[in-house]
Amino acid sequence: LQNIYILAIESSCDDTAAAVMHNGKVLSNIVSSQKIHEEYGGVVPELASRAHQQNIVPVVDQALKKAGVNKSQLSAIAFTRGPGLMGSLLVGTSFAKSLAYGLGIPLIDVNHMQAHILAHFIEEDDFEKPPFPFLAMTISGGHTQIVKVNSYSEMDVIGETIDDAVGEAFDKSGKLLGLGYPAGPAIDKLAKLGNPKTFKFTKPKVSGLNFSFSGLKTAILYFIQKQVKANPNFVEENLNDICASIQYTIIGILIDKLKLASKETGLKHIAIGGGVSANTGIRQALRDGEHKFGWITYIPKFEYTTDNAAMIAIVGHLKYLDGAYAEQNVMASSRLKI
Ligand code: KG4
Ligand code: ZN
Repeated sequence: LQNIYILAIESSCDDTAAAVMHNGKVLSNIVSSQKIHEEYGGVVPELASRAHQQNIVPVVDQALKKAGVNKSQLSAIAFTRGPGLMGSLLVGTSFAKSLAYGLGIPLIDVNHMQAHILAHFIEEDDFEKPPFPFLAMTISGGHTQIVKVNSYSEMDVIGETIDDAVGEAFDKSGKLLGLGYPAGPAIDKLAKLGNPKTFKFTKPKVSGLNFSFSGLKTAILYFIQKQVKANPNFVEENLNDICASIQYTIIGILIDKLKLASKETGLKHIAIGGGVSANTGIRQALRDGEHKFGWITYIPKFEYTTDNAAMIAIVGHLKYLDGAYAEQNVMASSRLKI
């Protein structure tokens, strides 16, 4: 058996991440989350690129040290080519190119959204991999897609958001409630203490498998404004129930579309990926789908849901096996499609 060591770099948004993988198994998975954006209530692209530039060498160094792997052992360097913030992508792309060039080893470009899906193929004990073809729902701060996954490299996007991503729906609602950024994890936590049926928000009417979340954000805004007019302490007094109700509505929207996608494609194997798949309510709703709709579901380990480089490494590993290397003049692409 060949010994394949992949060093992967992820820098598409506000996390600088590096991972080392040996034959599909994660040896190290380091994520440095940029704190600077919290005070702005969202990612500031210019600050993100600067922080990537500052963090990238220490993060890569830490990943190699933790893995106990020497640079000379590496088989290839994988990096996130897109989609993402251009300034952020450029840092990881340039660094990966230089390192591969310096070491004289292959460079492998990775699509971030494919990586969220293929994270399910990381070699882990006790984790089953979905069989092709299967359905994947990628839910993150930047994307909301339903993808028919035919093979490692062939995927069809069969539904996606026409406006905001689901993570934005969490983050923007949370901002209205004064929960800081990113608000997804906070809403998740508070929702556990509240009643999801307290407040009703109408679901958007979008045909087919597409999503829309901008109307929901506006509905929540108006609802809160109205309630606060009548009772200035409305948010503080009802925070858990508000969070539970918002989360319940969002989960309903996602599960409705998954049901439709499963019906239309006849596929029952369903995987989720992306930062929002860390959400406890969504994980539970998906598991409930097993006995409700006969689904077989695949939920990634928590550390492979939000942005990380282990998922970039597994795609790097799979492409390495295929000899699918990048050219040295490959360019970062902020709107890269699946
Ligand atoms: O995949 P990710 O780390 O970055 C992007 O590629 O966007 O996703 C980040 C998003 C944020 O919107 C964050 O609020 C959301 O994932 N998120 C959650 C949870 N953990 C992270 N949303 C709901 N519940 C969570 N537990
Ligand atoms: Zn992501």
